[in-house]
Amino acid sequence: MTSTALPGGIWTMGDLDVSRFGYGAMQLAGPWVMGPPADHAGALAVLREAVELGIDHIDTSDAYGPHVTNRLIREALHPYPQSLKIVTKVGANRDDQGGWPTARDPESLRRQVRENLDRLGLDTLDLVNLRLGDGQGQVQEPIAEAYGTLAELREQGLIRHLGVSNATAEQVAEARSIAPIVCVQNMYNLAHRDDDALIDELAADGIAYVPFFPLGGFSPLQSAALSGVAGRLGSSPMSVALAWLLRRSPNILLIPGTKSVTHLRENIAGAGLELSADDLAELDKIGR
Ligand SMILES: NC(=O)c1ccc[n+]([C@@H]2O[C@H](COP(=O)([O-])OP(=O)(O)OC[C@H]3O[C@@H](n4cnc5c(N)ncnc54)[C@H](OP(=O)(O)O)[C@@H]3O)[C@@H](O)[C@H]2O)c1
Repeated sequence: MTSTALPGGIWTMGDLDVSRFGYGAMQLAGPWVMGPPADHAGALAVLREAVELGIDHIDTSDAYGPHVTNRLIREALHPYPQSLKIVTKVGANRDDQGGWPTARDPESLRRQVRENLDRLGLDTLDLVNLRLGDGQGQVQEPIAEAYGTLAELREQGLIRHLGVSNATAEQVAEARSIAPIVCVQNMYNLAHRDDDALIDELAADGIAYVPFFPLGGFSPLQSAALSGVAGRLGSSPMSVALAWLLRRSPNILLIPGTKSVTHLRENIAGAGLELSADDLAELDKIGR
């Protein structure tokens, strides 16, 4: 299968053409994103199947595990197919309790970029997101020093493109005043639509919006309206949730996570569902 066969078609980020349907690797690590996977061979199989099915962008971070998902990606897929783009993020460490302490001072960011390059076995990172916020959500604070550090690393050729994550609209604007961004990765799904206006603004400027927790994350989406639409279409709630995101705006890229090859295949097939005006009206009741 080529990437054009995936639902949603292609989106261009800077000089990178990617299928709108990607894969998020976070859930491949152990419980609460700490430690190794329960099923190492199964995790490798999911990554290989994703690429086999035409997925050409994988979202990761060296904080997942920590170090676990980057090592799995390298073990499963290196040497990487030329078409594969690996998107990582920097800005947080992990502590022994599974917390995500902020690490956005220049020295920490330079170290994280180096570690991503080493663990993934790359000379250049295709796309690095600066992870903002405090682990609980967005925090309205200046980002110039941290984003400026990544912009320098981009100038040095260690990073091809930049994005921001957990960012407020003001922080997106501040980043753009320092160096171009090609994507914003924030929490968004059928039940959490705080970023509606931001998505539309970014779409108008040709910038991708990559929702994390597209299926609800650690608590997958559940709602009577979602189940009702899925039942009517003979599909699953997860499929409807993904199809709705692809339909929501052309700049939305999907990075649903799964440890299961079966779910991966279901998600690809399901995201191509056609939703009628009645379905959309029903789904609009969720999260309102
Ligand atoms: N920037 C940030 O701060 C940030 C934060 C969180 C996540 N992320 C990124 O976003 C990506 C996506 O987030 P996520 O994986 O945490 O959440 P998600 O994609 O919303 O949901 C993943 C959950 O849905 C389940 N699932 C997937 N497909 C399913 C299906 N067909 N049927 C039933 N259950 C299904 C998975 O379980 P199974 O494994 O059993 O399929 C898993 O528990 C992550 O991989 C990560 O790369 C970024």
